[in-house]
This record gives sequence, structure tokens and C-alpha cells, in this order.
Amino acid sequence: MFIPIDEYKMTSATDPTAQDFADMGIDETIIRKFVEHFYNVVHDDTILGPFFHEQMQASWDEHIDKMCNFWSAVLLGTHRFNGRPMPAHTKLQGLKEADFAHWVITFEKTLVECCPKASVPHIMKKAKMIADSLKHGVFYRTAMHMNNSK
Ligand code: HEM
Repeated sequence: MFIPIDEYKMTSATDPTAQDFADMGIDETIIRKFVEHFYNVVHDDTILGPFFHEQMQASWDEHIDKMCNFWSAVLLGTHRFNGRPMPAHTKLQGLKEADFAHWVITFEKTLVECCPKASVPHIMKKAKMIADSLKHGVFYRTAMHMNNSK
């Protein structure tokens, strides 16, 4: 079963557009700043860090470039990201549902430190939606697999 991750492209009528994010001061420089800061924190985080140290296929530099492209696509509507987030997370061994909550809190702290204040709730809305989608994909697929193998 394949669960597509097109959620990062989903918007509602009240969501800011790419132009709105640009007007809030979100540009490629800010995106790189918060991405680099977030993964510096993740690198030393006792919960999130080991997934990257032990299971990441990409190098840290490749991952950071990829994540700049990802957030550029999500916030500024560029088409620079062409990865596949769902399989990258379903393959992670030892991932727990609660780890997503920790990811969200850690990410929000980073945004507060790096981004224009008004943009933070809007970026967080996108981040939480994607985190929920990934969490659902990871744990729903696991439940399906366990039921099918009974
Ligand atoms: C507990 C939470 C999370 C953990 C432990 C985690 C861990 C990882 C790891 C280890 C990779 C590298 C995969 C590889 O290159 O082999 C990765 C890739 C990625 N992560 Fe996460 N992640 C989490 C949550 C999130 C969330 C909430 C988002 C988005 C808001 C996200 C977006 C991505 C993207 C876009 C990639 C690149 C996928 C690709 O290669 O196409 N992650 N993540």
C-alpha cells in the first residue's frame, strides 16, 4: 500500500500564500538559517540525533541542502524538492509516536530563534500538518502490516 505525501502542498483558503510568506520576511537565507540551526540542535539531541547518526543514508550536508529545498517548496512554492519523505520515515527503526511531538517542540524553538515572529505560527501549522501526516503514514502502515501478518 502506498500513501502519497502530497500534504505539504495542501493549503486552505486562509493559509498564507508563497507571496504572504515572502512578505513576512521568509526567503532562502532565512530558510537556510533555520534549517541549519534545527539540524545543529538535532545533531546533539538524545532522542532525534541517533536516527540521523545511525540510519541516515544521506550525509549531513546533503540532508541540509535537501531540507532547504523542502522548506523552500513548502513555504515559497518553489519546485526544488523532489524527495520522498514518507519512505524516508517508514524505514526508520525504533521510531515512536512520541518522537514526533518532540520533533515539533524542537522545531518550534528553532523557528522562534531564527524567524520573523509573525511567520512562526504559520510555519508551525505547515510543520504540524506534515508531522501528523508522516506519523499517520508510519504507524498506520505498521498497524496494517501487523494485521495482515496475523
Ligand atoms: C520523530 C521525527 C522525525 C525523525 C526521527 C526524522 C528523521 C529523519 C531521518 C533520519 C531522515 C534521513 C533519511 C535518509 O536520508 O536516510 C529524514 C529525512 C527527511 N525528513 Fe525527517 N524525521 C522526523 C520528522 C520529520 C518531519 C516532521 C518532517 C517535515 C515537517 C520531516 C522531513 C523530512 C524530509 C523532507 C526528509 C528528506 C526525505 C527524502 O530524502 O526525500 N521529518 N528524517
